[in-house]
Amino acid sequence: MKQICLIVNGARHEFVIGPERVLLDLLRDDLGLTGTKQSCDRKGQCGACMVIVNGRTALSCLTKVHSLDNAQVTTVEGLGTPENPHLIQQAFVLAGAIQCGYCTPGMIMATKALLDEIPDPSVDQIKKALTRNLCRCTGYKKIIEAVQLAGSFIRRETTPDAMYPKSSDGVMGVSHPRPSALAKACGTAHFTADIRLKDALELAVLRSAVPHARIVSIDVSAAEKMPGVAGVLTASDIKGTNILKYLVADRPVLCKDRVRYIGDPILILAADTQAQADAALATVIVKLEPLPVMSCPEDSLRDDAIKIHDDFPNLCFEQPQIKGNAEEALKNSAAVIEAQFNTQINHQAPLEPEATVAYWEEQEEGEDAKLVIVGRSINIHFHLGMLQSALGWENMSYREAYSGGQFGIKIDVISEGIAGAAALHFKRSVRYIPSLTESMLMSSKRHAFKMDVKLGADAQGNLTAYCNDYLVDKGAYYSIGHVVVNRSLLMLSGSYNIPNVNARARMVYTNNPWGSAARGAGPPQVNFALECAMDMLADKIGMDPFEFRLKNSLQPGQSKSTGRIVQQWCLPELMEAMRPHYERAVQEVKAHRQGRIKRGVGLGTGAFGIGGPGDVSVAAVELDIDGGISVYAAAADPGEGNDSMLSQLTAAFMGIPLEKVRLYTRDTDNTAASGPAAGSRITYMIGGALINALEQLKTAMQETGARTSEELETAGKSKRFLGSKKNEDAGPLDTQTGQGPSFESQVHAVQMVELEVDTESGQVSILKMTTTVDAGQVINPQNLTGQLEGGMDMGVGFALREEYIAGKTRDWVSFKFPTIRNSFEMETIVRETPRPKGPLGATGVGEMCMVPTAPAVINAIKNATGIWICDLPATPEKVKAALNPEK
Ligand code: FES
Ligand code: FES
Repeated sequence: MKQICLIVNGARHEFVIGPERVLLDLLRDDLGLTGTKQSCDRKGQCGACMVIVNGRTALSCLTKVHSLDNAQVTTVEGLGTPENPHLIQQAFVLAGAIQCGYCTPGMIMATKALLDEIPDPSVDQIKKALTRNLCRCTGYKKIIEAVQLAGSFIRRETTPDAMYPKSSDGVMGVSHPRPSALAKACGTAHFTADIRLKDALELAVLRSAVPHARIVSIDVSAAEKMPGVAGVLTASDIKGTNILKYLVADRPVLCKDRVRYIGDPILILAADTQAQADAALATVIVKLEPLPVMSCPEDSLRDDAIKIHDDFPNLCFEQPQIKGNAEEALKNSAAVIEAQFNTQINHQAPLEPEATVAYWEEQEEGEDAKLVIVGRSINIHFHLGMLQSALGWENMSYREAYSGGQFGIKIDVISEGIAGAAALHFKRSVRYIPSLTESMLMSSKRHAFKMDVKLGADAQGNLTAYCNDYLVDKGAYYSIGHVVVNRSLLMLSGSYNIPNVNARARMVYTNNPWGSAARGAGPPQVNFALECAMDMLADKIGMDPFEFRLKNSLQPGQSKSTGRIVQQWCLPELMEAMRPHYERAVQEVKAHRQGRIKRGVGLGTGAFGIGGPGDVSVAAVELDIDGGISVYAAAADPGEGNDSMLSQLTAAFMGIPLEKVRLYTRDTDNTAASGPAAGSRITYMIGGALINALEQLKTAMQETGARTSEELETAGKSKRFLGSKKNEDAGPLDTQTGQGPSFESQVHAVQMVELEVDTESGQVSILKMTTTVDAGQVINPQNLTGQLEGGMDMGVGFALREEYIAGKTRDWVSFKFPTIRNSFEMETIVRETPRPKGPLGATGVGEMCMVPTAPAVINAIKNATGIWICDLPATPEKVKAALNPEK
């Protein structure tokens, strides 16, 4: 042990420290400076823990305190506070560089060190300085812009005051800073692991290291005697159903007699400290008897395959879609292409690990005791119901902490079941703060699709028919299961008018990680196949892929693959907006056809449905005593900007300042169940319910002349109104034909990729991505483009790099997380066609750019090199092998 003095954010502190203590723990645990985050299991991979030590950036997770005597340490809290923020913190807020905000403190510290040294850095210098800082949400574009803006503030070329929107700018269509941005920039926004609970137990979970086995025995005798251990909990200790049922009752909180994938939870161990819990867990002996492993749908469909779940068939969902007569139409087509396309299992990769804390409110004893779960659910009411039933405890609440991204991963309960079970068993507060590796093991993944496709056209280049026979790898548990399949069928024909469709979708249990929502959830996979097939067919009939797409765009009055006729279809206008960019890019790539590095241009389009069949949402509003308005809606905002949307719609509709809109969105105790923050539905559905509630309030105010809650109540009216929004086109798809209801609204985009392929190494480098998009009336331009830019970056990862391989993908390096060095130029061109039933004409946009990006990338690789990569991801190894098949 050694006595150490540190000056942290200007204050002197003395510590007696062992040689292994790292600065991150000292800051967070001893000083409560939780603005400094951690994401990568302290491997130096994420930069979320970055601070400044003696004027230079340091990864606090790797910095031993022992060597820091008398060092000056600055954390994000030391730069500024929400009341008195630093110029860099304001720049990040004003540039729209903060979405979930989990990376933000580290980014800001890296920026501070850079600008101290280089006041006017180039983009290359910014990329170099921030190269250790990861962000999943932004695609890095707005982060680079934030650093540039901060530089201009510091150089006194402009001021934050000059940049903040003025009240005369209005509300709609203006980039007002997000309500939570300043707290995230200053490190005062609390994420789940930032919550300290007095005397809370820390948890460790034993998870299966094999994909399929019977549990023979569990020996915890040694573990129970280890120091600090409070006890061990297995499936038989859980009082409820032990089943986390979303649609199908198949996923246990803890496995009882069988494990079905690598990561399945077997046992919980609770101790006074995390180190004690981890040490004791290592002494637990579990005997497993291996069972046959079904590693792909084909394995599970074999006649001799054993059932993964006793109560459900391995072929767990099947849905055809038949419109017209595709086989006949293909026979009569002038050209037909046929190909197989495969997409991979992928991790959604939010930066924040899957933490949950649980505590007892006021009293811990008796049936009246209330258990509070704090996590980052995007559907708090539904998840609360799942937990109540699985754990057998009624009196519970769910409170949503700030969330470090989610991208679909939080559509289902993940770590909450573990924390809730332990809190109930031990009647203590608990913290479950798993590692990144364990977070990857426990969470859902993007489903892998295997698609056999045929697409035909007549001699004039009109699409005639489309067939897609596809297998979906469900993994071990159903979760939202057929919702993903149905979404893929609802958007199967993409942007186009295809008169004849014959599809069969089969979803199959396997011993792979369980699939669930992942940005786009189904449509990105099927659109990858369709959009690549469009280029293949254009090639075959000798048409330019741009003109081929435009010619075949759906028009109002024509029908999608579900048979539903569309009233509004913005694609042709978006294609025309793209035309000059496409023509420029085609000319430019012609100049780069020789030599080792070849350039290509590729297109993809997408029409993403929003407000699914029968979707319903609610929101409540209340007039306040000062004439302000409180909004009550369980609308999670894990980074998309939903708080901005609710505030700006309310202020615009009621004509009040933004500061007078108060949001209550994060607690089951004071919100109505508004449905999940998924499927890009929050703006359209909850925004729609909000406008409906505000209409009622406005009418009451106009009828009475009241301007405050007091005046309204004196006039005999309620000050609170509940609004709703519903898609009346309800009901399931016809089980035989897949014809039927549809989405109420669509967002449309055309994506163009310009890239280079190194024909020797197979390395693909994205040069530029251009998007034309129409998402209706724009509420907040920065939030809109931020979603598109993040989606493009994620789409490129899906196309080129990322894949989750159970047992092998363990951290951000093995996942191939996108870095600022891989980031590329992005240009977004926005058209605004008001949606008739959207809130003030708006619709959602969060998943749009995930849909056309991967095929645009693959089409551009083909354009550059002449080779098709139909198995994602198109890694350098695959590209190289396709270019040099004989080697
Ligand atoms: S926690 Fe330090 S680099 Fe990730
Ligand atoms: S804003 Fe960077 S990880 Fe979310």
